[in-house]
Amino acid sequence: MNKLIVGNLKMNLETVSQRDEYCLRTYEVFKKLSKENKNKIVFCPPIAHLDHFVHVVGKLPVEFGAQDCFWELHGSYTGNNSPKTISSLGGKYVILGHSEKREYNLENDENVMRKVLMALRTDLIPIVCVGYVENGGDEMENIKNQINLIADNLTAEEFSKIVFAYEPVWAIGSGKTPTIGEIHTVVLFIRNIVAKTYNQEVSSQIRILYGGSVSPDNVSDICHNTYVQGVLIGGASLNPEVFARLVQMLN
Ligand code: PGA
Repeated sequence: MNKLIVGNLKMNLETVSQRDEYCLRTYEVFKKLSKENKNKIVFCPPIAHLDHFVHVVGKLPVEFGAQDCFWELHGSYTGNNSPKTISSLGGKYVILGHSEKREYNLENDENVMRKVLMALRTDLIPIVCVGYVENGGDEMENIKNQINLIADNLTAEEFSKIVFAYEPVWAIGSGKTPTIGEIHTVVLFIRNIVAKTYNQEVSSQIRILYGGSVSPDNVSDICHNTYVQGVLIGGASLNPEVFARLVQMLN
């Protein structure tokens, strides 16, 4: 299976000139590696920049997504973004349940589940982050509860379209990563929950990524076998040259 490499640009590139510079540099750098690239590359910029990214960087064989969406399609929900808007701007993916949304926007499992449902019904592919724990919480227990709540509300066919991203909260932006063995344990744990809830086929169909301090130095080790089928990248995607180097490491 090819790898899915997702750049989460978070709340960066905050001015039009920063956005323009990033898009032009990215276009130039990624154009050079387009021919040899065999993996899927996804950029998730701030939603206000999505249109521009699609027009400039979208000339290359890459895809786009958003960093959140709302659980309704339209109406009086000030400040929220419809999954339909994302898809009509050219987005194909949406990151949901990121630990920073949980920490700063009071995101919870119930909200994430509702957003996953609406994203799927709008033909967006949800990238659901798991691994958030508050102080003293049990990571595995949280992951299980989160997956079960989503599974309770979806058919096997719908569920199999979800991409999960294991993101231990302490690894995000810290420069620290779990051992490869620890990552594999969680990936297997997720597959077992899905196999029990649905069946082996759905369990092997879902794609599982790892996220948290991924860099060109550790990405080959993290992705070296089929356990981890891609990466969710924050900091390292902010520099187009570093991001491209990371992509190259997986070719
Ligand atoms: P990081 O962020 O790569 O900067 O650790 C990952 C993420 O938040 O998805």
